[in-house]
Amino acid sequence: MENRNRQVLLKQRPTGAPTPADFTIADAPLPDPTEGEVLVRGIYLSVDPYMRGRISGQRSYARPVEVGAVIEGRVVGEVARSRNPAFRPGDYVLGGFGWQLYSAVPGTGLLKLDPAGAPLSTALGVLGMPGLTAYIGLDEIGKPQPGETVVVSAASGAVGAVVGQLAKRAGARVVGIAGGADKCRWAEAELGFDTCIDHRSADLGAALDRACPKGIDVYWENVGGAVQQAVFPRLNDFARMVMCGMVAEYNDIEPRPGPNLMSAVRKRIKIQGFIVSDRWQRFAEFRAMAAPLLRSGELKYREDIVDGLDRAPEAFIGLLQGRNFGKLVVRLAEDPTRRV
Ligand SMILES: NC(=O)c1ccc[n+]([C@@H]2O[C@H](COP(=O)([O-])OP(=O)(O)OC[C@H]3O[C@@H](n4cnc5c(N)ncnc54)[C@H](OP(=O)(O)O)[C@@H]3O)[C@@H](O)[C@H]2O)c1
Repeated sequence: MENRNRQVLLKQRPTGAPTPADFTIADAPLPDPTEGEVLVRGIYLSVDPYMRGRISGQRSYARPVEVGAVIEGRVVGEVARSRNPAFRPGDYVLGGFGWQLYSAVPGTGLLKLDPAGAPLSTALGVLGMPGLTAYIGLDEIGKPQPGETVVVSAASGAVGAVVGQLAKRAGARVVGIAGGADKCRWAEAELGFDTCIDHRSADLGAALDRACPKGIDVYWENVGGAVQQAVFPRLNDFARMVMCGMVAEYNDIEPRPGPNLMSAVRKRIKIQGFIVSDRWQRFAEFRAMAAPLLRSGELKYREDIVDGLDRAPEAFIGLLQGRNFGKLVVRLAEDPTRRV
């Protein structure tokens, strides 16, 4: 065991795409585990897109990495020393910490791994956080049904590959979007995607039309940007868009025009469209609730009544400019019940 600990620290917050100048490599003393802790010698370090946000300093669901601190990241490693009775030297664990060779971490946060069960590295990918991400997002939001079309971006990546395969198992037609012919071939030949589109191809929209003749029922969003723009208009009625990430925009310096849907990920916002006509069956129930409130004066209202059909266009134009004050109604004839 070395007696120094090599670490990668955040030197400065990147502007745009990170560069080597944003990081410092340094040696530190080997950490000393305290009671209940374990010294983990890292074997595999997970490098994930979310780190781009974490080193940017922007407000998010997790605390940013401070300038000067070790970059965060999940580690699979071997227990080098233990001050926790549940772990012995030589145990393999998921839960080491950060871009460094050694870390001292509480035993409570560690998961023991059996290398006979699966290669250790899989605990960071297909059997780890990305795999879980795919599983949860599909089960709780995407809910692909047999025969539906599921489109997955970053299809050959850690999350996307699992998404596509699980969606296939659910009986969906799966269309991947990935960068380059090799990735696409792999998604089709190895993962069993029905087809995969190279997002660098000249006309992504036309390629999507060919790949999704019945439109898109589930879109798994991993990248945002131009891919999102091409997919969005092709979503079917009642489509589900699983907002997982928008890696294509993580290096942006200036916000792109329009609302940025990445906040749907960060703030776990649920975006769901609806049309009232899908719920006419609840109209009587609504009226039974509201009418007594109206009669008692507890439910207040205001109407903006315009007289004469001829004024309807002008009223409508005014409505779209906010000239109405209250519910805009055109009175076509005298209301006999309201004669004063
Ligand atoms: N919400 C969550 O809890 C959660 C958890 C894990 C991951 N995520 C998100 O899931 C997404 C995938 O993560 P991952 O760990 O599986 O990474 P990954 O897909 O293995 O690697 C990132 C991939 O993103 C694609 N990409 C990068 N820059 C791009 C660009 N400018 N335009 C289009 N595609 C680009 C590339 O694939 P191509 O070459 O195929 O384009 C790249 O290989 C990320 O957005 C990540 O933030 C979210």
